[in-house]
Amino acid sequence: MKKAEIIIDKNFQVGKTDKRIFGSFIEHLGRAVYEGIYQPGSPFADENGFRKDTLKLVKDLNVPIIRYPGGNFVSGYHWEDGVGPKADRPKKVDLAWTVVETNQFGLNEFADWSKKAGSDIMMAVNLGTRGAEDAKNILEYCNLPAGSYYSDMRARHGYQDPHNVRLWCLGNEMDGPWQIGHKEADDYGKLAAETARVMRMIDPSIELVACGSSSAVMPTFGEWEYTVLDKCYDEVDYLSMHQYYNNIANNTPDFLANNLSMDRFINDVIAVCDAVRTKKRASKRINLSFDEWNVWYHSKEADKKLPKWVQAPHQLEDIYNFEDALLVGSLLITLLRHADRVKIACLAQLVNVIAPIMTSDTGAWRQTIYYPFLYTSLWGRGDVLQTIVKSPSYESCYGDAPYLDSVLVMDEENGTLTLFAVNKSLDEEMEISCDLRQFAGYRALEQVILTHDDVKAVNTEENPDNVAPKNVTPAQPDGGLFRTVLPSKSWTAIRFGK
Ligand code: AHR
Repeated sequence: MKKAEIIIDKNFQVGKTDKRIFGSFIEHLGRAVYEGIYQPGSPFADENGFRKDTLKLVKDLNVPIIRYPGGNFVSGYHWEDGVGPKADRPKKVDLAWTVVETNQFGLNEFADWSKKAGSDIMMAVNLGTRGAEDAKNILEYCNLPAGSYYSDMRARHGYQDPHNVRLWCLGNEMDGPWQIGHKEADDYGKLAAETARVMRMIDPSIELVACGSSSAVMPTFGEWEYTVLDKCYDEVDYLSMHQYYNNIANNTPDFLANNLSMDRFINDVIAVCDAVRTKKRASKRINLSFDEWNVWYHSKEADKKLPKWVQAPHQLEDIYNFEDALLVGSLLITLLRHADRVKIACLAQLVNVIAPIMTSDTGAWRQTIYYPFLYTSLWGRGDVLQTIVKSPSYESCYGDAPYLDSVLVMDEENGTLTLFAVNKSLDEEMEISCDLRQFAGYRALEQVILTHDDVKAVNTEENPDNVAPKNVTPAQPDGGLFRTVLPSKSWTAIRFGK
């Protein structure tokens, strides 16, 4: 059996979790919107056409903010096509995903749906084919009280009160050659600054996210961040990060070590943000919005064979297995460990498209990755403690990878402490210990474990609980020392309190 020690001190804190790190993403892509969250005529639809079964699974996840409407989609999108009487809305080609967009669902429907889901909106503006003028228009439509051209248009569309969207993305992945309206860093930085200034004239209270690199392996990574921020540092609040992970090499130990590459990516982006801060002698810090992250690779071959210019095809429908859930658990631990700088993060995406939730005409079910996200979202809010992990490790393609990933989050208001842990050993249990004497009188209240014999096990509509968490009776601290044994290849959350 492997052994590891976790060291904490309640006074040594990384920072408070910003609840928005448990955000997600709905793009007009594949069956995320149509058949995912919106399916009028379905036996599961409510009076608005929203799927009640999906809504329940989303609400359970407690997702505080959802990015919309893209993604690559936004870079060619005309938001006006998706508002007003549905009969008048045009069917348009979507160049990003080579499909036809019916526009039967648009920003007002998304605002209604988000309210029902209990989530705020993180809205992206089109800086691919459009610019500052259009960003002003959509912001006016969303946030100004009636009395101007676009706010009156919203009122005519049945929404007297503003949607009051607080968080806005200045485009999407503008560094990527695949992006409609892809730009050089200098040009994008100037456009982001100009757009931000115009948007703040309409609503100075909004927060703005500039595009960072679309992954850490982009050839322009680093230089892109520096150049963009050099142009728009004063105008924006966050820089975006995107990264998807894969196990194409079918090497589980290497795959499970991907949280090290996420950690390095975050540290590198912080370094660039702070380098620009130094150069500008600025007092403000730019924080990070990791607004697309997940595992994505299972569906890539199938997607190449899909027909073009159809409506809502089965695109990016990754079926997640158990090892994906372990990595998602580790990635969430990494995000928590950076609570001081990562203020927003979006699991991309939420329904059907690289998503924790799947739907068919006959129901909705949870993929494996649903569970670590669920419990981290529910129990990961509070003060993240600096968590020192002394663990045996293995050699991975990202360097020395500890078998144990772990973090503790203290919620003083509710008097709880939660330990999240992943044992990456594929064949050995691990005894972990943690000195909890500073938490006098705390007992282990509940423990949830996600484990499976087969790392490739999946959930399907026919067998939706194949990979599902189990509640177990937790071990108890003894004289303040907590010890327990984690199964091999497992994700665990243990909640302590009085
Ligand atoms: O989430 C799927 C796609 O991945 C998004 O549209 C894009 O931003 C990224 O490349």
